Amino acid sequence: MIENFNGYIDKESDEYNLLLEISKKPLPAHIAIIMDGNGRWAKKRGLERFEGHKAGIKSVRDVVETSARLGIKFLSLYAFSVENWKRPKKEIMQLMGLLKKYIKEELPTLKKNNIRFKAVGRISELDVSVRKLISHAESQTAKNSGLHLNIALNYGGRVEIVDTFKKILNTYGKDLKVDDIDEELISKNLYMKDTPDPDLLIRTSGELRISNFFIWEIAYTELYFTKVLWPDFNRKELFSAIKDFQNRQRRFGGI
Ligand code: FPP
Repeated sequence: MIENFNGYIDKESDEYNLLLEISKKPLPAHIAIIMDGNGRWAKKRGLERFEGHKAGIKSVRDVVETSARLGIKFLSLYAFSVENWKRPKKEIMQLMGLLKKYIKEELPTLKKNNIRFKAVGRISELDVSVRKLISHAESQTAKNSGLHLNIALNYGGRVEIVDTFKKILNTYGKDLKVDDIDEELISKNLYMKDTPDPDLLIRTSGELRISNFFIWEIAYTELYFTKVLWPDFNRKELFSAIKDFQNRQRRFGGI
């Protein structure tokens, strides 16, 4: 795995030492990230919020590329929540614009690097221009077997559970008996039914909240909070989060 960074990372740097360290222990299979702090990053520099989101795209690229090089199997990024519609219309348009630009520009790179792209959330409620790009990117990368990149869009943990119950009822209807309802039935009807629960959830910007992200899925996930604002979150920060994760003892309720 270290050889995947040859030529990209200075072997004399702290970053390289961190990479060497994390390469010795198992990596999280699924990393989920609440990308927070774009607005504050911009404000600190006297810039418009949009500039913070734009700078956040660089972190998205960095984290996707680094995860792929590390051989992480699943990466889920919280890009737009069901609550984010409460933001000013202009900001919503800008965020959707950035997302479209990201998909258009990154698709060749995702394909080249064997990355599978998937959008999770109430995608059918998004503008048709966004939906078209999403389904194109999904179909073009569906057979890729490298990093599985999930972008949570118009996503909410509670609405996901609501949608899951609706899906179960639609599928089984009157045939469903009370005793048929168990954790497995719910898990396999969630948006990401083929994806294991996150091992590590990162939230940037110092806020200590989950904000309705993956409510069901994070029951046993290790949580990592950092004060670093999302546009400043880079490869080294990701290595640090992984190192922290590797030093935890996961017992899943056992002893
Ligand atoms: C939180 O910062 C960030 C968001 C609501 C959006 C995250 C989106 C991106 C990084 C760009 C698009 C994403 C992809 C995957 C292409 P905030 O605005 O809540 O910051 P604040 O709390 O400091 O105001």
